[in-house]
Amino acid sequence: MCLGPRDQVSYTFHYYLHARFNGPLPMSAPQPVRLEDYRPPAYHVEQARLRIDLSGETARVDARLELRRNPAAAPEDTALRLDAEFLELEALHLDGEALDPAALRAADGALVIPDPGARCRVETTSRFRPAENTALSGLYRSGRMYCTQCEAEGFRRITPYPDRPDVLAPFTTTLIADRTACPVLLSNGDCIEAGALDEQRHYAVWHDPYPKPAYLFAVVAGDLSCQEERFTTASGREVALRFYTEPGNAGRTEHALASLKRAMRWDEQQYGLEYDLDTYMVVAVGDFNMGAMENKGLNVFNTQFVLASPDTATDADYEGVEAVIGHEYFHNWTGNRVTCRDWFQLSLKEGLTVFREHQFAEAMGSAAIERIRQVRLLRSAQFPEDAGPMAHPVQPKSYVEINNFYTATVYAKGAEVIRMYRTLLGDTPFRRGVRRYLERHDGEAATIDDFLACMEEASGADLQQFSRWYHQAGTPQVTVRDEYDPEREVYTLHCRQHTPATPEQPRKAPMHIPLAVGLLGPDGAPLPVQLAGEPADEAAHTRVLELREAEERFEIAGCPQRPTPSLLRGFSAPVAVEYPYSDDDLAFLLARDPDPFARWEAGQQLAVRVLLAEAAGEPRPGGLERLEAAFRGALEAPGADPALTAEVLTLPSETYLAEQLEVVDPQAIHDARAGLRRALGQALTAHWQALCEQHPGRPWRHSAEEAAQRRLANLALSYLVAGSPRHLDRALQQLERSDNLTDRLAALAVLADSEAPQAERAIEAFHQRWRDEPLVVDKWFRVQATASRPDALEQVERLTRHPDFTLDNPNRARALLGAFAQGNPACFHSPDGRGYRLLADHVLALDARNPQLAARLLGPLSHWRRYEPQRRTAMREQLERILAQPALSKDVHEVASRSLEAAG
Ligand code: TRP
Ligand code: ZN
Repeated sequence: MCLGPRDQVSYTFHYYLHARFNGPLPMSAPQPVRLEDYRPPAYHVEQARLRIDLSGETARVDARLELRRNPAAAPEDTALRLDAEFLELEALHLDGEALDPAALRAADGALVIPDPGARCRVETTSRFRPAENTALSGLYRSGRMYCTQCEAEGFRRITPYPDRPDVLAPFTTTLIADRTACPVLLSNGDCIEAGALDEQRHYAVWHDPYPKPAYLFAVVAGDLSCQEERFTTASGREVALRFYTEPGNAGRTEHALASLKRAMRWDEQQYGLEYDLDTYMVVAVGDFNMGAMENKGLNVFNTQFVLASPDTATDADYEGVEAVIGHEYFHNWTGNRVTCRDWFQLSLKEGLTVFREHQFAEAMGSAAIERIRQVRLLRSAQFPEDAGPMAHPVQPKSYVEINNFYTATVYAKGAEVIRMYRTLLGDTPFRRGVRRYLERHDGEAATIDDFLACMEEASGADLQQFSRWYHQAGTPQVTVRDEYDPEREVYTLHCRQHTPATPEQPRKAPMHIPLAVGLLGPDGAPLPVQLAGEPADEAAHTRVLELREAEERFEIAGCPQRPTPSLLRGFSAPVAVEYPYSDDDLAFLLARDPDPFARWEAGQQLAVRVLLAEAAGEPRPGGLERLEAAFRGALEAPGADPALTAEVLTLPSETYLAEQLEVVDPQAIHDARAGLRRALGQALTAHWQALCEQHPGRPWRHSAEEAAQRRLANLALSYLVAGSPRHLDRALQQLERSDNLTDRLAALAVLADSEAPQAERAIEAFHQRWRDEPLVVDKWFRVQATASRPDALEQVERLTRHPDFTLDNPNRARALLGAFAQGNPACFHSPDGRGYRLLADHVLALDARNPQLAARLLGPLSHWRRYEPQRRTAMREQLERILAQPALSKDVHEVASRSLEAAG
């Protein structure tokens, strides 16, 4: 049934819920939402019918909602609340009778109908202007198309609605638009009717049979090209896969389509989960606040995570596309079929889906390399969050603006929590638990506790202590000491755990931590890890110790000699481990540990030591020589996997190094790292040169093996040039001759570090050549923002005035400002505070237009307490300046005020 045009409304008036489309809400102090205040919804929506007319400048939305009182609601909760933001409400009818919205208005702009009855019908007509929606939340214009982003609370900017994830409804949507401007009209589910309306306009009716929360709603309209392929599910269902782009990007969706098919097959094989509609659509959108969105049957993607061609995407981008395509697809079960009761359960869908995405990536490529990259990301993004003023548990207890809680903690640490279930329970019980959760809660809005209960039932394990991973913020520190008793041949590990205080959580209880341990004999042979009193198992070379107490010991029997421990293999828990390894131990583990993750980790720890000593002005005697020898060993190891070698040869990031210090001086860290790169560049010149020459000369092809070779060759190039600028010519040649963006960009990055005139000319030429490719121009900005040259701050200031720079495109804003603030610590933290002012100026400019993005860009300033006094003061001043602005968004207000509040 489609909603006919209803041009005559008996009772028409104009009511502005809010004066400005994207401005701040007219409220004094934004009030937090608390988990403990959760109440079931008073009404369910049995049917949602929408008619969205996009044929004019002003969009018009007619909604008809059939509602029923929720028997599970408290008897006194009889009011129906319809969230609404930035809408001009033209009419409101309850069971056919006109109501006066002005009389129903709640303080925060929502409409509250006191007691509409056990069953009722609400009809509304509202208007808004998509072209003025610069917040990119709700329905907006991107380029020449219309699209939506409703998670978390964007649907209320389209029509008044109970916009909360525990209200699930089947949607029928009629979309109307100009026939020439918008020949393609899409929404969730299946198209059940389409046709011409008049000379100019046409319409399409879409029906989604799966009840869903409003945050999964989507519409798209535009002049779009489509690439279509088919997929047959395990049970024989035919699915049409349709990828839509603006015409200029047609032909760049092949890789994403192939990735989607792999993801669909993998989910069938790994979890027995099939796709459940006849079409799966993906739309590529240039202006997007995040990576992508899992709207039911109609994913909307940031172009960055769906388009791929050799000239516009690097090897890393190809991997990013496959990961995000997988992620959004996996949401169809973990997020859509079973959704979240409220936003405090966000990690229920995001942690689980990121974990599934990780498993998928591990299955498609090299599991060890994948794992190393996951850990790198966790340590550089989540560990700092856990140690800063925005620290929050995987299940937060309160928020002011939910968009600020789409964090590394909810996503990446949440994924680690899921991985720990599997580590502790075993793969089969874990999968049984996931199946049980999906079967029991199919079509429902569930909680993290529901998930945990299914895991307990499926495994018989008691997970009460484990549940603290959801409730306690902070990265647990595990300190390990050992002793060896040659008489009894017993090796004892003493483990202490401590989780540091975080805002509002001064004291922590001990966590249930899976610590995967291996032992190496003096000759490097792996030894069985056999706990005293347990039967011998010769094959058990990695043993998961379960830490539960603040302090405890584990006795390992049958050790004829003192072993070297290999701790936290595979990164079995999101913790920081401390053990007094000697440099020799680390070099030994790097060379001999059979666990590739542990090998990489040993190399990183060795480098961390050398670098931190250097940064503190107390160089470690013999440190450089030892690292050089370790690198040489990695470079010469026969039959080594080039991908792992590249990871081993990549020094820890400046962010990770800063994380190890109480008080940070970013310039000292940068200088230490740059100095070490120069020294290694010189000491191993012949090796780097050889690697550069082995670079695959053949035409570019997307494959993991060739990507690893390119990565290694490009790493070698950067070491060579770090060692001596005379190798710059090699970079110039590579930039000219390459047939792919990976190699061009690697060359460009090396050139951007240099102040040589030929390098600057090359950068300019690159822009001239690629100026019409937005994703490549983003890279061009990024490379300069993260350049390791002393005047990078001036370059960035200059680039903010470049004609191609704009705050209206999130990818562009992130490419320059986000990359600079996060990826160029030495220059961003210029001691005179200019970097901070630059960022704050842009955050303020952006706040009125796109508060979500503004709050994200502000993040780096929140860590002000960690820096040495001069920088600390300059950072705080900018936060105070921001907070003093009169009309701040909730988003930016929450980040700035929490940053200043939290005790240091
Ligand atoms: N749920 C999306 C994902 O994990 C991400 C998302 C949340 C998002 N809020 C958003 C995307 C706002 C864009 C805009 O994939
Ligand atoms: Zn997600």
